[in-house]
Amino acid sequence: MAGTQARQIGRLQGKVAIITGAANGIGRATALRFAAEGARLMLNDVNAAALDTVLREVTEAGGAVCGIVGDVAKAAEVERLVAEAVASYGCVDILIANAGIIPEADLPAASADLWDRTMAIDARGMFLCCKHAAAAMLKTGGGAMVLLSSVSGFVGQKGQVVYGPAKFAASGLTKHLAVELAAQGIRVNAVAPGTIATAAVARMDPAGIRAGIAKHPMGRIGQPEEVANAILFLASDEASFITGAILPVDGGFLAQ
Ligand SMILES: NC(=O)c1ccc[n+]([C@@H]2O[C@H](COP(=O)([O-])OP(=O)(O)OC[C@H]3O[C@@H](n4cnc5c(N)ncnc54)[C@H](O)[C@@H]3O)[C@@H](O)[C@H]2O)c1
Repeated sequence: MAGTQARQIGRLQGKVAIITGAANGIGRATALRFAAEGARLMLNDVNAAALDTVLREVTEAGGAVCGIVGDVAKAAEVERLVAEAVASYGCVDILIANAGIIPEADLPAASADLWDRTMAIDARGMFLCCKHAAAAMLKTGGGAMVLLSSVSGFVGQKGQVVYGPAKFAASGLTKHLAVELAAQGIRVNAVAPGTIATAAVARMDPAGIRAGIAKHPMGRIGQPEEVANAILFLASDEASFITGAILPVDGGFLAQ
């Protein structure tokens, strides 16, 4: 009947979301999904050309979006990212701490330099993003963060003696920040993807990917959009009583 139909509004209508590592893979899928749900986006990546492409894609899809090139491992660049979001939109409601690298290395192959580089981006970078985004969120009464952990941030795997511990840092940050920030109105959750079909995974040893598929009871790897859907739920008000949760998006990997 005319006039009685509820107007469809996005699940993130008007929310201001920072997404790091948004130029590829899970970050890009999340940016496109968030834009479709009405979020206003501030996207970050170190890859300027790929970031430009995603900014164009979101704009062409009708999304409100700005972007800034920056390295999440550098405190000044993270501060600038958060400041630009506030300058552009007036506040920060959501942080998706997604930027990361996925090095494969067993113990003999893992150098101290690889450890330092991975921890700088995956652990220190995530910490810096949470720290500066939280400061902005507190000025307007709170917000929601979703961090990218991994099944490797839950259980041991071969060939991940550097990446796995970095993802345990993501899991730990989720739990500790959730408790520290709960009373101040900031929810902190994570997703723990299994193997997801992104460029980072395409660069891996094909035999390793085949072995990885065998570990997923659903018998396939996931798509970036399937992770973006879980991130959307945790970032949205639908998850209003959920904090400190780490949601597997892994085709059953961690259920075994
Ligand atoms: N793909 C998977 O199987 C998988 C599984 C579990 C968790 N994850 C996590 O999901 C996140 C995204 O992974 P992905 O597979 O989409 O990777 P991806 O390589 O496809 O995309 C990552 C993006 O992060 C950017 N980036 C890298 N270093 C950065 C830095 N210092 N500052 C800013 N941006 C930076 C890259 O340029 C790239 O655009 C990572 O945190 C990863 O650990 C991925």
